[in-house]
Amino acid sequence: MSGLERVAQPDGPHPGRPPDRTVRRADPVLLDAVRARLARHGPQPTAEDVTEAVRSAGTVLGSQALAELGAAVRAEVLGAGPLQRLLDDPEVTDVLVNAPDQVWVERAGRLERSAIDLGTPTQVRDLAVRLAAAGGQRLDDASPTVDARLPDGSRLHAVLPPVAGGCALISLRTLRRQAFTLDELVRAGSVAPGLVPVLRALVAARASFLVSGATGTGKTTLLSALLSLVAPTERIVCIEESGELAPDHPHVVRLLARAANVDGAGAIGLSDLVRQALRMRPDRIVLGECRGAEVRDVLTALNTGHEGGCATLHANTAADVPARLEALAALAGMSRESVAAQAASALDAVVHLRRDGPRRYIAAVAVVRRAPTGELAVETAVDVTPGGLPVRGPGWEALARRMGA
Ligand SMILES: Nc1ncnc2c1ncn2[C@@H]1O[C@H](COP(=O)(O)OP(=O)(O)OP(=O)(O)O)[C@@H](O)[C@H]1O
Ligand SMILES: [Mg+2]
Repeated sequence: MSGLERVAQPDGPHPGRPPDRTVRRADPVLLDAVRARLARHGPQPTAEDVTEAVRSAGTVLGSQALAELGAAVRAEVLGAGPLQRLLDDPEVTDVLVNAPDQVWVERAGRLERSAIDLGTPTQVRDLAVRLAAAGGQRLDDASPTVDARLPDGSRLHAVLPPVAGGCALISLRTLRRQAFTLDELVRAGSVAPGLVPVLRALVAARASFLVSGATGTGKTTLLSALLSLVAPTERIVCIEESGELAPDHPHVVRLLARAANVDGAGAIGLSDLVRQALRMRPDRIVLGECRGAEVRDVLTALNTGHEGGCATLHANTAADVPARLEALAALAGMSRESVAAQAASALDAVVHLRRDGPRRYIAAVAVVRRAPTGELAVETAVDVTPGGLPVRGPGWEALARRMGA
């Protein structure tokens, strides 16, 4: 016995995938034996503990087979099991499980179906529950959705049936080990070279700004790159759901929201954390993703002397930003008028991202102001043509004034 099972793959088209018809998965009996041994190492066994447990589980193997088995078991016990090798692929940004035999990956900007088969719907559910536990969260019938960060930094979202219509659904977003620098984003065609001085000036002038864009357009990545430009003498407090921001900066502290425990107690939300951050002598308050009532606390913070703050916001176009802010602020009981007044004085700019196929790029920089009618308005200061040329818009003068230029 090698301790590794070869799992046959079903037939069917897997566009773009090499003809990898089998996937190696650790033998369940051996896995149980290894898990039992690891229980002695406490809740966070190291990779060495796993290798040692495989060795002492009693199977006699050659060194090649032992190394292969060790890798498979480590993936099962510490990582995302059979999905781990997808997450380890530097080109893969997302891994999406819809059913045991429907595992999709986004590689280099394109969704493709992988040849991996996870077995049965129960095994998918077990994997989701185990991943959630690895991220310190519960996932069960009473709490059937989870948003967590795995120990390797990947972001996990999972939903169990019947909320998921069919099999448990798993969505994993891989973590780039290193943040993109602004220069790398320029080289990748994501930031027009002409925008670099504008972005640098926004950060240097301690403007408060939002990075907006649709799902997966690179908002968090760009915000990390911009925070890396913050002067090293400033203290950055990042408030997040799942700790994704990775600015290259010497003085960053993180506050992570927490879900309630089994008894429904102990939840700490983003609003709470924004208020906590105010007491922590922040030079910059950063909200990883603004997606609910915490928008009120952020606007209040930015209006009470905490300039230079920033956040990402989901919006399909820069012009949708006011409506998005109003909708979120309504969750906190704010009227349209008060959002307009607060946001216009708290926020200086919006940096909007767009995605065309695999390409993600800054499509516009806009200023936030109040229209003469009293409504919140976002006015284009720089528009970037699909060919990558920045063109000044009607908001340019206001933006230049804000940047002290
Ligand atoms: N400019 C870029 N070029 C290539 N890949 C990128 C770029 N920006 C981001 N990515 C990759 O795309 C994926 C999504 O990026 P990111 O998490 O920053 O997007 P997002 O807009 O914050 O997503 P979400 O809406 O889920 O919060 C990541 O894996 C990231 O590494
Ligand atoms: Mg994001």
